[in-house]
Amino acid sequence: PESAAEFVPEDADLAALRTAAAGCRGCELYRDATQTVFGDGAAAARVMLVGEQPGDKEDRAGEPFVGPAGRLLDRALADAGLDRERCYLTNAVKHFRFTRAPGKPRLHKKPSVGQINACRPWLTAEYAAVRPAVVVALGATAVRAVLGTRYKVTADRGRLLPCPQAGADAQAVISTHPSAILRAPDDARDEALAALVSDLRAVNTAIN
Ligand code: URA
Ligand code: SF4
Repeated sequence: PESAAEFVPEDADLAALRTAAAGCRGCELYRDATQTVFGDGAAAARVMLVGEQPGDKEDRAGEPFVGPAGRLLDRALADAGLDRERCYLTNAVKHFRFTRAPGKPRLHKKPSVGQINACRPWLTAEYAAVRPAVVVALGATAVRAVLGTRYKVTADRGRLLPCPQAGADAQAVISTHPSAILRAPDDARDEALAALVSDLRAVNTAIN
C-alpha cells in the first residue's frame, strides 16, 4: 500500500521533518496539490490539534488553518482560554485533495482511508518531535488518523481518552471539525461552536 514511511527521516526535529515532507510522494495527492502543508506551531506545545487536510487557502499559503476554518478555530481556542501560539496545529493528511470542474473553483474532497493511512507516518513523527500531553482530533478523519476506528465524534467527543501512540501518558480529545461548524445551518451554528469551545475547555483543564 501507499505510505509516507520511506520519506520520514528518523529521530528528526520539526524543521527536518518539514523539509522532508515537502518532497513526500507517499500517495498520489502530491501530484495535484500546490505543496505539502506540514504542521506548524510551538515545538514544545502541550496541545496538538489535528484537522483533516489543508483547504484551498492552506494549499496556497503552505500553512495549516489559515483560511475560514482556521479563523473559527482561533476564536474557539481563545474562548476556551487556549493560546494558538502555544499549540501545534497539523492535519491528518498533508496535501489538499480536491475536485475541479473546468472553470470552477477547487472543491474540497474528503481524503480516502488509504490516504489517511499513507500519511499517518508524518503524524507519528510529529508526536515524537512535539510530545504533546493532549492531541485534539477535529472531525472524523482526524479521529481515524489519531485513534483508529474505535471512536465516533458524536458519541465520544469532549472526554479524555488514552492516546498511547502519541506518548506514554498522552491523552486525546475528540471534537467537531471547524469546517463542519461553518457548514451548519444558521440555527445550529452557535450551538455547534459552543460545543467545540466546551471540548477545548476540557483540554485546557487537562493541561493545567
Ligand atoms: N481544514 C483542515 O482540516 N485543516 C486546515 O488546515 C484547514 C482547514
Ligand atoms: Fe505524502 Fe501525505 Fe502528501 Fe500523500 S498526502 S503525498 S502521504 S504528505
